[in-house]
Order: sequence, then C-alpha cells, then structure tokens
Amino acid sequence: MTRSVIIGTGAAAPKKVLTNKDLESIVDTSDEWISTRTGIKQRHIAEDGETTSTLAAEASLKALEMAKVKPEEVDMIVVGTTSPDMIMPNTGALVQKIIGARKAFGFDVYAACSGFVYAITVADKFVKEKPDSKVLAIGSELLSSITDWQDRNTCVLFGDAAGAVLLTGARGGDRGILSTHLRSDGCLWELLHIPGGGCVYPPSAEMAEKRDYCIRMQGNEVFKHAVRSLTDVAREALKENRLGPDDVDLFIPHQANMRIMNKVAERLEIPVERVYINIDRYGNTSSASIPVALDEANRSGRLKRGDLVLLDAFGGGFTWGAVMIRW
Ligand code: ACO
Repeated sequence: MTRSVIIGTGAAAPKKVLTNKDLESIVDTSDEWISTRTGIKQRHIAEDGETTSTLAAEASLKALEMAKVKPEEVDMIVVGTTSPDMIMPNTGALVQKIIGARKAFGFDVYAACSGFVYAITVADKFVKEKPDSKVLAIGSELLSSITDWQDRNTCVLFGDAAGAVLLTGARGGDRGILSTHLRSDGCLWELLHIPGGGCVYPPSAEMAEKRDYCIRMQGNEVFKHAVRSLTDVAREALKENRLGPDDVDLFIPHQANMRIMNKVAERLEIPVERVYINIDRYGNTSSASIPVALDEANRSGRLKRGDLVLLDAFGGGFTWGAVMIRW
C-alpha cells in the first residue's frame, strides 16, 4: 500500500506583533476579556510587502529545506486560503513563481479555517496516484486584510501566518496519512461569511465604506457548531482507524478559541497535555493554524516517529474535517 508521508514542515509569520494591550487603544476591549474568552494574548500582523503568497513561500522553502528537496523537484502546490493576494491569479501559482518551482502546477482550495485540512486531503489523493511526486500542501492567511478593525467582536480574534508540509509517497510501512474526512454544510453560511467582494455584492464605494469585504460572524452560534462538528469528525476518524482517544499522541485542533479546544478535547477524552495549543501567540490564523502548530511540534521534538497525530478543523461554509497521521 502507498501512503502519503510528510517529509518536511515549515511556518512563517509577520514580524509585527499586536498584543491585547495594543488592541485596547483600537477598540473598546481589554486584555482580560480577550484572554479569558479566547486564550489569545497576541497575534502577528503583516506589514508592507508581506502577503499571503510571500508567507506561504517562506513556509514552503523551510519545508523543502528540511526535506532536502529543491523547489524544481516540486510537482504540485495546493494552498488553503480565504485571503488570497488577488482573486486571480491563484496563490499556488504565485508561490510557484516565488520559490522557483518551475515544473509544478499550483491552485487554491477555498474552505475558510478548514483550508489546510482540505488542501492536505487533495494533496494526499494526488500523491497516492503518483507516489514519486513531491507535493506542497499549504495554509496561508492575511486575515488582517479582511478584518473589520472597528468591530471588537471579530478584530481581537484574528492573525496572519502560513504553514506548509511537503508530501511524497511511501510504499509499505505504517507511516503516513491514514485517513482524511471532509464535511460541509452550506445551509449555515450566514453565521460566518464575508458579504462583499464576490459577484453577489461586487466591490463598490458603498461596500468599502461599510467594510463589507470583512469577516462577519455570529460568534456564539459558530462556537456551538464548532464544538459539535469538531468532536463528530474526530470521532469518525478514530472509528474508521479502529483507534481510541488513548492512542492519540498529539491532537492538533484548529486554533479558533481556547474554550472550543478544551471542550472538544474533553468530549473526545483526550487529556489536555496531548492537545497542541499556540493560540496565545498567534490568535486565529484560519487555514494556517494547523500547519503552523504541526511545524512547531515537529521542530521542537514534540512529535516522534510513529506518533499518532489527529488534525481537526472547522470554519466558514460551514466546513470541517479531520486527518489521521502516523508520524
Ligand atoms: N471586548 C470586550 N467585550 C466584547 C468583545 C471584546 N473584544 N467582543 C464582544 N464583547 C462583548 C459583547 O458585546 C457581549 O456584550 P453584551 O453581553 O453586553 O451584549 C459580550 O461581550 C459577550 O459576547 P459574546 O459574543 O456572547 O461572547 P462569547 O463568549 O460567545 O465569545 C467569541 C465571543 C470569542 C467570538 C466566541 O463566540 C467564539 O470564539 N466563537 C467561535 C469563533 C470560531 O470558532 N470561528 C470559526 C473559525 S473563524 C473562520 O472561519 C475565519
């Protein structure tokens, strides 16, 4: 049997850090409110020249360096993002240009905070089809560009970052991606969406003035759906692999809110020591949050060969999904 194996990981974040204290001078909020409701202490925010594609390229080069693979050897680049540099070209094509992956083709998948889980699922299928290929699966976001900085309900939550993994095929052995599980429910789109900028409500002076190109969210409703969906799809991944919560060495949920992660881990009966948490330093970076966490866990030695890793994401759409990996 051929499985997709992760042979390199990388991450990138803008240098500029915005703390909860800094936010107190932008909107009516407090470090105490943000910390207790979300677990966030700071987030990284892009400055001039830093974009979704440049962060994605930086993360990708680190993943390639770890795997000792040259950009020219990459076959496919798939980017999960909801904040692309432009509507056209796609971010994957821009990453291909920046890193010099001449023979690769690139494209984006568009699944909000589940973007990376969708991207790695697509990458996994391609690698299984062509086991010798080298594929970059990326999650990259400049949420600061689609954040309403006058809306305290949302602006305290988001940050900018990118994470990337490099996959290739391995025949035999028990390492690699064991299963992937994707879900969506378009009926609930209004609870978390960006109203303007698409064909339904094209860009206009009015749209810009109302900041309708920014994320709108009914936070407490999203919270309930996130807990339920993250729990259900993680259980599905465990069941399909005939595994239980005790088998999971590292659980990496989307870093949306500390309280969501705690509730999901509690329902799954995964102890908090086996849950990876970095929301305090990055905020919610949407599709970047899982690959950034994966790279930190990998580089810090927290992940050991043979460990069972469970990725679990939820985002606008709604979209959600899980990936089970033997490291
Ligand atoms: N500072 C101070 N007070 C605030 C702030 C703030 N930044 N934001 C809201 N409040 C106030 C509200 O106005 C409200 O005041 P009121 O009671 O006087 O009306 C009160 O705090 C409570 O507001 P809630 O929205 O009920 O607060 P809640 O406990 O639900 O926390 C939060 C809000 C953090 C947004 C939470 O609901 C959440 O994390 N939701 C899920 C987010 C998520 O998972 N998103 C999915 C991925 S994101 C993506 O796809 C891009």
